Amino acid sequence: MKVLSIVGARPQFVKLAPIDHALRAAGVEHVIVHTGQHYDERMSGEFFSELDISAPDVNLNVGSAGHGAQTGAMLGLLDDVHTSHDPDWVLVYGDTNSTLAGAVSAAKLHYPLAHLEAGLRSFNRRMPEEHNRVLTDHAADLLLAPTTEAMRHLAAEGLAERSTLVGDVMTDVLFDVRARQASGQVTSPDLGFAAGEYYLSTIHRAENTDDPERLRAVVEGLQALDKPVVLLAHPRLVSRCADHGIDLAAGAIELRDPMKYPDLVAAAAEAAAIVTDSGGLQKEAFLLRTPCVTVRTETEWVETVALGWNALAADPTTIGSTLRGLSTEPTDAAPYGDGQAAGRVVEALRGT
Ligand code: UD1
Repeated sequence: MKVLSIVGARPQFVKLAPIDHALRAAGVEHVIVHTGQHYDERMSGEFFSELDISAPDVNLNVGSAGHGAQTGAMLGLLDDVHTSHDPDWVLVYGDTNSTLAGAVSAAKLHYPLAHLEAGLRSFNRRMPEEHNRVLTDHAADLLLAPTTEAMRHLAAEGLAERSTLVGDVMTDVLFDVRARQASGQVTSPDLGFAAGEYYLSTIHRAENTDDPERLRAVVEGLQALDKPVVLLAHPRLVSRCADHGIDLAAGAIELRDPMKYPDLVAAAAEAAAIVTDSGGLQKEAFLLRTPCVTVRTETEWVETVALGWNALAADPTTIGSTLRGLSTEPTDAAPYGDGQAAGRVVEALRGT
């Protein structure tokens, strides 16, 4: 069997790691295509080396552009990649423009298409990620769902027969990194703050960065918090703040570059709380049992909210009060699986 994975953005490299390891262990031929959507070393190359992912076989180097131009550039190049590698499965990940381009090209050329992290819904049709995931799910032949909630969404859209619950591969990666940290194989970063004495934050979503008023309110919400806020600044956040004359490095904010994945996990584990609009980090917070405030109007990861470890601050002026209002209770709930999702993905692709 030959599987062709298409990735392009940071969270996809994290999801790719356990899949690449599981495919390699099973002796499956694995072709990795990097679209080049993320190209900074800190957003891309470092993830391959830190997470021991095979080097990409193909790099399309598309870079940044508007949605149509970026997705279209990938699509134009992927047709040739598919026909020259002639895979048994095309595997796409998550909800980025790289996911959609891979899905459309594979579907048009009649290559069997599998979607990892299928069935997530925010029901917010203004989010580019929502368009990407809905369109990809409906194009795919095999829907690999991370949660029972995702399975419910797929069934509600008439997709139950193509869906299978595998668990969340991000749990696989996180457990693996924590085990390596516990055994001293991976060291923790020195942030300059003691454990429990800082908040960790990431903000990058278009809903928060692209409207200057909203962006200013989010930044001011972080700057007003009562502990240092280690803000791992995504390039999109930095460039939008520069465009609108917003000074990021003021108040409580301690500005830092994006981190390598193991460093991020260690920093998240020791933070007093996390403030983010990232889907992945909300879940990582829960898995590490670090309280989280999500600066969005909704979340796909509703389990984290139901279990009391995550709360939405739709209005950025309420970030501080939402943080103070969180009341976390110990739980051994495992809505994101047991850390063995990648093995189930390989079984599903093999049809066993
Ligand atoms: C993309 C995904 C989003 C995902 C995120 C993870 C889409 C629609 N969005 O958002 O779902 O959560 O990745 O990070 O696919 N830039 C750089 N260097 C880079 C990458 C980006 O400077 O390596 C800057 C560019 O100015 C670019 C902007 O960031 O215009 C946005 O990048 P893009 O990849 O389009 O979207 P993200 O915001 O990263």
